[in-house]
Amino acid sequence: MTLAPDPFRSATHGKRHSAYTVLNDRGPVHLMHRTRSRSTWLITGYDEARASLTDPRLVKGGGGANIFGHRLDPALLAATRTEMLSSDPPNHTRLRKLVSGAFTMRRIDLLAPRIQQVVDGLLDALVDVESADLVTTFAYPLPMTVICDLLGIPEERRADFRTWSAQIIDPAVVGFEVFAEAATDLVGYVRELIATKRAQPADDLLSAVIAVRDGSDQLSEDELTSLVILLLVAGHETTVNFIANATFALLTHPEQLAVLRAEPARIPAAVEELLRFDGPLQIATQRVATETFELGGVTISAGDVVLTGLLAANRDTSHLPGADVLDVTRTPTPHLAFGHGIHHCLGAPLARLEARIALSSLITRFPDLRLATPADDLPVGDAVLINALTALQVATRPAPAS
Ligand code: HEM
Repeated sequence: MTLAPDPFRSATHGKRHSAYTVLNDRGPVHLMHRTRSRSTWLITGYDEARASLTDPRLVKGGGGANIFGHRLDPALLAATRTEMLSSDPPNHTRLRKLVSGAFTMRRIDLLAPRIQQVVDGLLDALVDVESADLVTTFAYPLPMTVICDLLGIPEERRADFRTWSAQIIDPAVVGFEVFAEAATDLVGYVRELIATKRAQPADDLLSAVIAVRDGSDQLSEDELTSLVILLLVAGHETTVNFIANATFALLTHPEQLAVLRAEPARIPAAVEELLRFDGPLQIATQRVATETFELGGVTISAGDVVLTGLLAANRDTSHLPGADVLDVTRTPTPHLAFGHGIHHCLGAPLARLEARIALSSLITRFPDLRLATPADDLPVGDAVLINALTALQVATRPAPAS
């Protein structure tokens, strides 16, 4: 059985959102598929989605392992997945507490001038270009540079770091051999980096997490390696696609863009509305039910997989009237784009800061920015987790008079 309509295999943004609307009109929880041993459910209703993210009967169980997890060398697996996103309490509580001690607001706020400098440099390169793919020229390099800065990756290793990152993010696309080789190289490099920072601590996040202690407790070598890889993966694809989706939303809603150009002070609230309207994650990472219970009119059995539909929940009109309308003047609503509960995004302050600087600089520098291809033709990636435009071709100058 497959979900129909299937939002995960929709060719365009518009079709994806329409599929979620059809599902939400039917009810808040949907059977995606069923095997003899278990069923997989998709939650699209806001109230049920929010409840699922704090329900102790839904656990990760180390579920963050990718599709090739069982084929990886156990030592490599331990070095890549001993991290908080795939953990449950009490280990999640311990890891999150240790990392939060180093991932402070102060450290994030200090990045603002550097983020502005990176944004300005990327936009400078677009000034003489008539048209460009904003994903590859702007949305992609910004978060990658920021995460490398934050971790203290030296300039000369950043190209390798980017290659490995691209190869481990989507294992199904690159295949096992490429994935395993990239994971091996990445883990080897991260271990080397940790050893260097241990010997010569610097003013970066990695040195801070190496040093962090809670009484006699501190992060082990596998936990440190897994954390670096988690920050790379969790902090990168999400922000790239958010910047692209937000730009697309503004360019296809010129009246909303005009409001922001006239009143730039509205940008922080607009970022929240854009996260709600078209966030970069379709679903949260999967949870598994530890017991049988009712949710949104269906029975979830022990062992079933539950996928929380963040994108659908944020546009649930039974929760928020007019949820399918982009309104940058809306008072921010408690959206689920960053998740909710114990796994609420640790990097949300950084993502917000990057998005605010990126969007305000982009619309100020390019008053004539427009889509260079018809909005209906922009393809979305065929992924379950990420809600991504595969490219966003824009023109920086006004359309020639016809
Ligand atoms: C717009 C950008 C971003 C979005 C929409 C986003 C979204 C999310 C969501 C939905 C979760 C929870 C997933 C779940 O419950 O299964 C999460 C967790 C996480 N995110 Fe983000 N994220 C973004 C950017 C970042 C950045 C920039 C970083 C760090 C550099 C980051 C680091 C993390 C970490 C470490 C977790 C795990 C937290 C835990 O398990 O306690 N994220 N993110």
